[in-house]
This record gives sequence, structure tokens and C-alpha cells, in this order.
Amino acid sequence: MFNIKQSLEQLMSSAIDQASGLSGTKGHVIYATRAEFGDYQANGVMAVAKQLKTNPRELASRVLENIPANDLIARAEVAGPGFINLFLRDAYLAQWGSHYAQPRSPLIQAVPEPQTIVVDYSSPNLAKEMHVGHLRGTIIGDCLVRVLEACGHNVVRQNHVGDWGTQFGMLIAHMASLESANAQVSTELADLENFYRQAKQRFDDEEGFAETARSYVVKLQQGDPDCLNAWQSFIDESLGHCESVYKLLGVTLRREDLKPESFYNPELANIIQALDDKGLLSVSEGARCVFLEQFKGKEGAPLPTIVQKSDGGYLYATTDLAAAQYRAKTLHADRVLYVVDARQSLHFQQIFAIARIAGFAPESCSLEHIAYGMMMGEDGKPFKTRSGDNVKLIDLLDESVRRAHVIVSEKNPDLDIESRDEIAAVVGIAAVKYSELSKNRTSDYVFDWGTMLSFEGNTAPYMLYAFARIKSILRRQESEINVNAQIQLEASEERNLLIKILQFPEAVHVVSIDGFPNYLCSYLYDLAGIFMRFYEACPVLKAEPEIRDSRLKLVELTAKTLGRGLELLGLETLEKM
Ligand code: ARG
Repeated sequence: MFNIKQSLEQLMSSAIDQASGLSGTKGHVIYATRAEFGDYQANGVMAVAKQLKTNPRELASRVLENIPANDLIARAEVAGPGFINLFLRDAYLAQWGSHYAQPRSPLIQAVPEPQTIVVDYSSPNLAKEMHVGHLRGTIIGDCLVRVLEACGHNVVRQNHVGDWGTQFGMLIAHMASLESANAQVSTELADLENFYRQAKQRFDDEEGFAETARSYVVKLQQGDPDCLNAWQSFIDESLGHCESVYKLLGVTLRREDLKPESFYNPELANIIQALDDKGLLSVSEGARCVFLEQFKGKEGAPLPTIVQKSDGGYLYATTDLAAAQYRAKTLHADRVLYVVDARQSLHFQQIFAIARIAGFAPESCSLEHIAYGMMMGEDGKPFKTRSGDNVKLIDLLDESVRRAHVIVSEKNPDLDIESRDEIAAVVGIAAVKYSELSKNRTSDYVFDWGTMLSFEGNTAPYMLYAFARIKSILRRQESEINVNAQIQLEASEERNLLIKILQFPEAVHVVSIDGFPNYLCSYLYDLAGIFMRFYEACPVLKAEPEIRDSRLKLVELTAKTLGRGLELLGLETLEKM
């Protein structure tokens, strides 16, 4: 794997080991913050000096003498209280650049030890249509699976849709009564949101309806065939809605990735039994619960995780325990990523803790909540329609494409209508996705059409435009490209650009570990900016043939890197804009 940072870290660790007589020390290499500090900076010496109670600058100079022979580092010097500034060798960078530029070079190489990584994402509740609340999880999750796959991991997508429980009894009861009144149920279901609203209203207001609904839940859970049929046709309809959203969004979830809540139903009694066998169950107000020391509610009162209601019904938590076990033991996951709303954070802390104690998921299986914040309207309140309803995802996406169309038409009034349609479709969707991905996922963020559709700043239109522009530079010079050209680093702008390109695998690697797509967005945004500075400072076509060939290579490499990066974010790109 060619990862400059990792290679430097290895070199520095081994140098620190040698110089200190310890073993397994960490190099801690970071990007240098100023050009005079070199390209990277190693600051692992300080911790070791502290541990050995020795002078850090002295240790650092001994470390310099012990750096193993290598082609990567041109020069290393001690700085400040004991940092080591590292300057990379141009010839080495150029060689790697040429290697990267080869048509079949993948840019990102597979990790030496691929893991099985389960990613639970999107996972809407099928009782209603997908709304804006599902946007972040769906988009972030889809970026993460792409990144993890690019790193060579075995990725198992799991769409843990909610398809079970009380709400479905209500919906089936509504369906059944429509059917007996000879209404066209399929037309009614075309607007699921409306269907749900009607059912809910009857549930709340109509005499006897709630009872019927509850009896349907029982029948459903007992496996009554008619009831199951009705349920199945509802689920199919609802999945159809999800799939049209996925298609529009370019999300890679397929039917075979579905592992709905109902899938775990047969396991739930065993989960309760297993908890009981371990002595973890207590009964509180008739419900079966697990109490753990570390979870306390108001005024230190013990906080339960309810796993079975007094009427025998199971809960969201029970299903999640079964899912954790399935993922650890049947799918053999090394990591399970739960890309779910931050408001469920306590739920997952409880699930993870119980799964460990009860032995559903061993320590070797890492359980990680990839939490994300809420989407707010411009008024700072949760994003809703004027009437206070949830905004349907499909409507939001249509609106974005419509707005992109207006902007594209303003910018290119002479463009034919097909091209405008095509550009608007790509930009509209990319704008929504990129504005989610480019923000730190843990914070709430304000949804704002103006910013996300702007051609300036860290936005989808800017990124897509930069990519199309680079592609057009290449198109104009296609016949001139010399495949055997060597990269030469004369100007600092060339060197900066090449180093940035070679840092692409590092950025992708970081995302694969931490699960923050905004890191990749920032990287790509910086890359686009560094490219623009290069292109202003370094003429391509007018340069001497050798230099021109080398610069064309850099342009080509930028296009390749940016294109791959945008693909990992799940953005479609345009050759012309
Ligand atoms: N269906 C749930 C919701 O809409 C999300 C499920 C997330 N995954 C899980 N394993 N709990 O809130």
C-alpha cells in the first residue's frame, strides 16, 4: 500500500525504537502546517522522551541518526522542543506520480488484512415514505460502504428497515376495510404518507378501530396467512417508494441488502431466554428489562432497557440484540457500523453493552454508532413543511433538480434543453448529497438551498465544475498526451499538486477508520484549489515539450483522483458543464 503517511510512520517508529531502546513506539506523523516545516512532521519523540525522562531534543537527534535507509525522505531536521520535520524526495514523488498515472493503477490499494464490515444504513421505517430525516444516514452510509470497499474490505450492507410492530396492525386494518368497501387499495397506497395519515386518524378517532388494529398485530405475529399477505403487499409497495428514492440518489442498496426487523422475529424468544440464563433479566412494572450499572436516569435512578412488554410483545431493543448477534456470529463481522441518528445514541450504548455482557457479540467484533445530527430548516427548527409535516425525500430531490435547472439555464442560456436537463439532474442530486457529506456529521446543520447550489466554496456545483473544467483541458490536448512522459517537479505549484494527489489514499484511509466523509470532501476541495493555483502558475501547452508532457500528466492525475474521489462520495460527474 502506498501511503506516504503510513510509510513515514513506520520509518519513524523504527528510528525511535532504535534510538530509545524501546519497542513498538509510535511515529505520530502529521501534515506540516507551514512550508518551512517540511512536508510532514513527526512528533512521536516527545512522548517517549517523557517516558524515559530524557531531553526530547537530544533524543530527536539520535532518532535522526537511526532513520532506516529509504528513498522517501530527502532531509529530516529537529525542530522546536523535539519535533522532526520531514522533507520528501522529489525524485521519489515523481516516480510514484508516474506510477499512479498508469491507466490501470487503482490509486487506492487494498489493505493487507481485509475485514468483514457490516454497515447498517438508511433503514427507514416502512410504515411511511422516506422523509428528510433519512437523508443523512442514507447518503453517509452509502459513502462509507464505497470507501470501505475501495480499501478492499468485505462489506455487507444491511438495510434494517422497520416493517414490524403496532403501526403495521393499524395499516393492515385500514387496508382491509378499504378492500371490503371495494376501494382501489393500490391507488390509495401510491401516496403512502396520506395513507398513513388516514389510518392514524381512524386509529385515534374511530370507535373500535384501535381494537381491530391491535387484533391484526396479534394475528400478524401469529403468522395468520391472510394477514401476512396483506402485510407483504403493503411492504412491497413501501419498498417500491424507497427504491425510487435510492435510484434517484444513486444509492447502492439492493433488495438483497434488506434485513428487515421481521427477519429477527423467530430469534427474539431465544434472546430473552439467553438474557434470563445469564441472570440479566428483571421484571419492572410487568415488563422484562435489563438494568446495567452504567446507565442512570434522572437523579441517578437505574435506567432499564425494556426487552419484552407485559403483553409479551418484543421491542426495538430486542430486535437490535438479535441483529447484533446475527452480525457477529453469522456474518462474522469484525466491525459493525450503525449509521443512525444521534438521538438513538443511548439506545445503541445500551445495546452494545448488553450484547457484550450477554455474549451476543464478542469483544473482537467492534460495534460502532456512526451518529449524525439533525437537519434544520433556515429558522433553526427541525426541517418540516409549512404545515408541520415531514418533507418527503422524493419531493426534496425533485425540488433540488428544479432549482438546479433554473441556475444552469441562467448560466448557460444558449445550451440546448437536453444538456440542461442532464446537467440539472446531476447537479441537483449532487448538491443535496454533497451538502450532507461535507459537514461534520455529528452536528445538526441548517439546510440552505442558496449555499448548496452555489458555484463558490466547498459545494457540489463548484466540485463538479472543477472536474468538468479539468476534463475539458485534457480534451483539448488529448492528441498531445505522451503516455511515457516522466513527471518533473520544477515549480513549487507542481510539487504541491503532486504531493496532494499522492495523499489521496491517506484521506480515504482516514474515512475508512473514522467514518467522517467530510474529511474526504475537504481533501477534494483542497485538491481542486491547489490544482487551480498550479494551472494559473504553470502554463501547460506553451511550455517546452518535456515540461508540457509532465504538466499534462499532472492534469490527468488530478482528473483521475478527483473523479475517483467524487465517485467514492457517490456523486455522478459531468464531462462538460
Ligand atoms: N428504522 C429505524 C428508524 O427509522 C432505524 C434503524 C437503525 N438500525 C438499527 N439497527 N436500529 O429510526
